[in-house]
Amino acid sequence: MSFSKHIENRNDYQTPALLDYIRKAFSSEDARHQTLLDEMQTHGLPAIQIGASEGKILQFLIKSCQAKKAVEIGTLGGYSALWIADALPKDGKLYTMEIDPDTAAGTKKTLKEVGLSDKVSIVIGDANETLETIEPFGPFDFCFIDADKISYPNYLLWAERNLCPGGIVAADNAYLFGQVHLNPDMAGADAVAISAMQSFIKILTDPSRFSISAMIPTGEGLAVGIRGRQPKVE
Ligand SMILES: C[S@@+](CC[C@H](N)C(=O)[O-])C[C@H]1O[C@@H](n2cnc3c(N)ncnc32)[C@H](O)[C@@H]1O
Repeated sequence: MSFSKHIENRNDYQTPALLDYIRKAFSSEDARHQTLLDEMQTHGLPAIQIGASEGKILQFLIKSCQAKKAVEIGTLGGYSALWIADALPKDGKLYTMEIDPDTAAGTKKTLKEVGLSDKVSIVIGDANETLETIEPFGPFDFCFIDADKISYPNYLLWAERNLCPGGIVAADNAYLFGQVHLNPDMAGADAVAISAMQSFIKILTDPSRFSISAMIPTGEGLAVGIRGRQPKVE
């Protein structure tokens, strides 16, 4: 085993206590984050939002490409939307897509409560259909994918077409809950999702589409890519 492989493979430093220390050091939340989390609980939404550390990574990416216009696919209770919106400039805008009308209605109210109703617009419906409706507001600088996994390739192709050159795409759950490396033919009911995530990774790692891509090894895998200067001609 090579030395570098050995280093890359070790994650035994990442104890819960260490991760908690890192989260507190880098990713301070304020009362608004707690408001969103409390409202999610009140409305019975599942606690499947990103963590604060991922929120801070999204902010790092947004600032590094000086993003002004952002898209999020998968709103839930607006927790990641808050992290994204905070990293945009005062006149920045986030369009966040949510399929469930009740979830969207509750989150719209909560985002108003935390002062984000102007900066964040929730678009209700299946993002596979509604993304097209925001295209006139593009091109966009940043796109965060965090919704149904089987649509990840479709969302990524949309991002490729609608991001500015140099714009950044980030996608959560890219490890597909520990299954992304499995052979879909042997995976039974999970085959479709595994194939989809493998297609997503194939597109993201194609340098003719995204000039650079990487997997940030968060707990769930945060896949990132920078849209190349020239869109791929099919
Ligand atoms: C993992 S949660 C998003 C969490 C959120 N990004 C956060 O970290 O706070 C996924 C959300 O995507 C929504 N969703 C699932 N399929 C969708 C689709 N096809 N179009 C739009 N939203 C979808 C779900 O209803 C759910 O609210």
